[in-house]
Amino acid sequence: MPTACMRRSEEPCRRLSSHANRSAPALALASPRRSAKPFAKDKFSATEMLQRPLLPLLPSKTIADVVITTLSANTTTMFPSEAASGRTTDSKIKGLRVFNNWIKSCLIQRYSPDEDHAPGSREMGRTSGKELLILDMGCGKGGDLNKWQQAPQAVQLYVGLDPADVSIEQARGRYRNMGNPRGGRGGGRGGHHRGPPARMFDARFHVKDCFGETIEDLEIIQQVGFDPSPMNRRGFDVVSMMFSMHYAFESEKNARNMLRNVAGALKKGGRFIGCIPNSDVLGEHVRKFNTKAAERREAKKKEEEEGKAKAEDAPEPEDGELEEGEAEPSAEWGNSIYRVRFPGATPEDGVFRPAFGWKYNFFLDEAVEEVPEYVVPWEAFRALAEDYNLELQYHRTFPEIWEAEKDDPELGPLSERMRVREPNGGPLLVSDDEMEAASFYIGFCFYKV
Ligand SMILES: C[S@@+](CC[C@H](N)C(=O)[O-])C[C@H]1O[C@@H](n2cnc3c(N)ncnc32)[C@H](O)[C@@H]1O
Repeated sequence: MPTACMRRSEEPCRRLSSHANRSAPALALASPRRSAKPFAKDKFSATEMLQRPLLPLLPSKTIADVVITTLSANTTTMFPSEAASGRTTDSKIKGLRVFNNWIKSCLIQRYSPDEDHAPGSREMGRTSGKELLILDMGCGKGGDLNKWQQAPQAVQLYVGLDPADVSIEQARGRYRNMGNPRGGRGGGRGGHHRGPPARMFDARFHVKDCFGETIEDLEIIQQVGFDPSPMNRRGFDVVSMMFSMHYAFESEKNARNMLRNVAGALKKGGRFIGCIPNSDVLGEHVRKFNTKAAERREAKKKEEEEGKAKAEDAPEPEDGELEEGEAEPSAEWGNSIYRVRFPGATPEDGVFRPAFGWKYNFFLDEAVEEVPEYVVPWEAFRALAEDYNLELQYHRTFPEIWEAEKDDPELGPLSERMRVREPNGGPLLVSDDEMEAASFYIGFCFYKV
């Protein structure tokens, strides 16, 4: 069984909270009590959110450092989404894996062709017919190679970048196997098309930190063309960042580096697709947690004022009660397969400002490694992306994508072949707890203007 710290997706807060309230977490977390620093309650504009200094709780290690050290030291380590989209068959999160993979297929199917996205255009096959150039930033072990092989518009070149050398080696191996009829997953298995396998695209893989540094120095990036300005006529058709972009939100510098790399690599009119955790879901949980904590504080204060808790008479605090001066435990929630915990203080109103450095830990069943993640406050990200000539085209939660695409004549049957649901429009094969974990995510598409 693989070890993993895994990724998932998202859904409306309504559903999350009802699940979170009733489910008993199976993943024990060490030390639920952490010291909490006071949080400034001031309100900030979008510009101020981006400009405010970073929180002091930023770690000195960057996520890329963690990735490189962890993955180099342990070849079985998996990120949440890798575990949640991997190939293990005997797994408690099998439904989550196939669901996340299906969602990624939907994004690739819908937003990779260089068509206009007016209703009916896909059915009418309005594409240039040109082969696509794809850049996968944070490609991991190449889990999306087969999805690109099944893309509606043929791919000419796929470039996969990731700072983890072990993952890049595995991605290379997976690509080699795709050309092998006995070892590969190509040729339509689980894929979009049922016809004969498409010609294999050319693929290149490089060990690269795409957030801490520029990717401009890579020869293949220069060959395709790198220019962040709106004048760029060369470049990739699609930049994909599946379950990886949020690691860049460790700092404003990294988020800007990441967006400069995306914008620089994209041609004018090219698309930036991906999936990230939903800051609305994170914010709602945090807000509820802090409201309850404030109510507890208020009740305690009232009790003290009424003279019921005189220090000399007070009994020893029982387990779970806060002692005088003790910090509130940090925000955390989850269910039988996943758990989220913020190690530090969180905003009382659930609005994450400034926009960077909001670290939390995500645990998924079958995961042993803990890789910190960072909240991507959606509106701040959207505003920042505009600075890099990236305009929002699409933004949906995973459950919304499911509802919108499950009856699509191509994506619906694909969900059945991938075992997301039973054949002939039958029931979902994703449990409630898996769906709650999947509901942690959103899919997006920007295009470069
Ligand atoms: C959860 S995995 C997702 C892998 C793959 N995109 C998928 O969907 O299966 C997150 C990936 O982000 C990568 N990552 C972390 N920091 C990065 C950075 N600075 N630059 C590029 N990729 C990074 C990790 O190495 C890891 O492979």
